[in-house]
Amino acid sequence: MTHREPARLVVLISGTGRNLQALIDASTRGDLGAQIVKVISNRSAVAGLARAEAAGIATQTIDHRGFDTREAFDAALGDAIAAAAPDIVALAGFMRILTADFIRRFEGRLLNIHPSLLPKYRGLHTHRRALEAADRWHGASIHFVTEELDGGPVVLQGRIAVEPEDTEQTLARRVMEEVELLIYPAAVRWMAGGRLRLQDHLAWLDDTRLQTPVQWPLDDAAPDSVNP
Ligand code: GRF
Repeated sequence: MTHREPARLVVLISGTGRNLQALIDASTRGDLGAQIVKVISNRSAVAGLARAEAAGIATQTIDHRGFDTREAFDAALGDAIAAAAPDIVALAGFMRILTADFIRRFEGRLLNIHPSLLPKYRGLHTHRRALEAADRWHGASIHFVTEELDGGPVVLQGRIAVEPEDTEQTLARRVMEEVELLIYPAAVRWMAGGRLRLQDHLAWLDDTRLQTPVQWPLDDAAPDSVNP
């Protein structure tokens, strides 16, 4: 994939925007290789929009409740994204299921963060489900978005040990602070640098096809350390 320096990044949110803030902070530090050109929310007045505005980033709200169908919402959302001509579209707590047409329109440019060790626990309530299963490990994943919900190729994953005293709330907070806020900027940096790409529905990092996700923290040798 050809890429521009810095890459143009659009971020989609629905709420608090902590992942968005991590991307803003990395971009401000000059550490992302990408410029956030627009933040789009499907909910008005959420904290994530205020974070973007405070950083001087253009924002737009497209309320899904104003549309009769999922297709109509996705068409409007897609037009708003396309108007910003992004190289990368990062879903960061964007709580809408996207149509196949939308995904095809931006395929290869769409990344998502999901708070579980995919393929475990697609969908909602991931922390509760990890606790109920008495999992030893839990974490978060960055994956390419494909037509299968939370099912596209996973590129980067970070894990933490579940502690006996963990509750759904403490686990959610620790996954956010110890994993999510670190791995999303790293994956966007790879995309922005043209290192990470989707080809024939498979993820590639440099010259390596990722058969398993890269594990966070990255060691200095990455991606040579990635198992082919
Ligand atoms: C994160 O846990 C993300 O993984 C999930 O929704 C949450 C969004 O939080 N999809 P925030 O808006 O980034 O604070």
